[in-house]
Amino acid sequence: MKVLVVGSGGREHALVWKIAQSKKVDKIFCAPGNAGIKEIAETVDVKADDTPALLKFAKANKIGLTVVGPEVPLVKGIVDEFMKEGLKVFGPSKELAMLEGSKVFAKETMKRFSVSTADFMVFEDADKAKAYLRKKGVPVVIKADGLAAGKGVIVAEDTREAEQAIDDILVKRIFGEAGNKIIIEECLRGEEASILIFSDGKNIAPLASSQDHKRIFDNDKGPNTGGMGAYSPAPVVSGKLFDEIIDSVFRPIINGLASEGRPYKGVLYGGLMITENGPMALEFNVRFGDPETQAVLPRLKSDLADIMMACIEGKLNELKLEWDDRPCLSIVAASKGYPGVYEKNKNISGLNTVRSIKDVAVFHSGTALRDGNIVTDGGRVLAVSGFGKDIKSARDTAYEAMDKIKFEGIYYRKDIGDKAIGRI
Ligand code: AMP
Ligand code: GLY
Repeated sequence: MKVLVVGSGGREHALVWKIAQSKKVDKIFCAPGNAGIKEIAETVDVKADDTPALLKFAKANKIGLTVVGPEVPLVKGIVDEFMKEGLKVFGPSKELAMLEGSKVFAKETMKRFSVSTADFMVFEDADKAKAYLRKKGVPVVIKADGLAAGKGVIVAEDTREAEQAIDDILVKRIFGEAGNKIIIEECLRGEEASILIFSDGKNIAPLASSQDHKRIFDNDKGPNTGGMGAYSPAPVVSGKLFDEIIDSVFRPIINGLASEGRPYKGVLYGGLMITENGPMALEFNVRFGDPETQAVLPRLKSDLADIMMACIEGKLNELKLEWDDRPCLSIVAASKGYPGVYEKNKNISGLNTVRSIKDVAVFHSGTALRDGNIVTDGGRVLAVSGFGKDIKSARDTAYEAMDKIKFEGIYYRKDIGDKAIGRI
């Protein structure tokens, strides 16, 4: 079977790497891919959100399975377009991609199926929003409804900050149409965890738990990023709590949507806050996480192409997912200045040295090939994932390998996994 993976980040590199291990897959294409992906797949010069060009490519090349990495093509409806042409594609429909594409849609869906989540109200008018804010007080969380590249959530500790966020989104329109509506929601306290499941519309197969590190600096300081590192499993989600999350968050959503005649197929990512009162859903994503995927997929022993086909064909109940018991920890290296302005085109060295280290994999995020050299080409540049008998040795393996990779201005957090190690 030929597979097409859509996207160009570390998540897509990990997806391609894992799918390449399938005995049923003889060729993988990736559009548009990056320099790391190019080493194991044929990259195709088509943008991830150019659905007509992707469709044309898939038909011309008899692609047996298309896997969509990022949310934008899903929200634009790539799955519906491919299905209309009889092509197999892994991901939810356009309608259900709105679980990520619209926070209002997501919260209303959660409410309808009684999923535990923070109390909220929806506003289109800044004055009404501020009146509600005065009544509720701070801290409070303000969210733009639509996709805002991870910048649409403001956790406001004081009233001035909250009013500013309301004005920025509803009046100044800093997120454009993504800010036609906002949500004002109760601020939850606790530790965050990401749980992902596969679903074929009715059956659920959970992935191993993981935890991201969203802030740029050590000890969770500084601005939010796309994610600076992850590890799996997440000790904060112990066995009993994990089951509770599946039963109280995912089953109601999957069963509820099925009962409305719109089954959710693909991977569903729940961002959760583990509060004193139990797990609460913060958000849903309709895709794999980045960098969670780089820590989770190396632990998956089962055939990922089989799992994805089972999701599409409604046969997930016929599979049992097998996992490597060893923890995996992934560190992201970023360009100097990220998540603000950063430079590109810096030569990366050490990749060949790291290739020979046991229990380590490197996944490229923002890299490109220039004159035969691999250079930086993004804010997040690459992730180094390491295995260990426990989380501490996984961390040591990953950091030892990361030490060997160099480029001008390289930055990575030094505390990935520390919280998990502290907990054990
Ligand atoms: P979201 O995109 O909704 O997951 O929000 C991004 C980040 O904002 C989350 O990972 C949390 O750190 C934070 N956040 C979102 N909602 C809340 C909430 N209700 N209470 C506290 N923090 C939140
Ligand atoms: N790591 C966060 C995300 O993928 O949304």
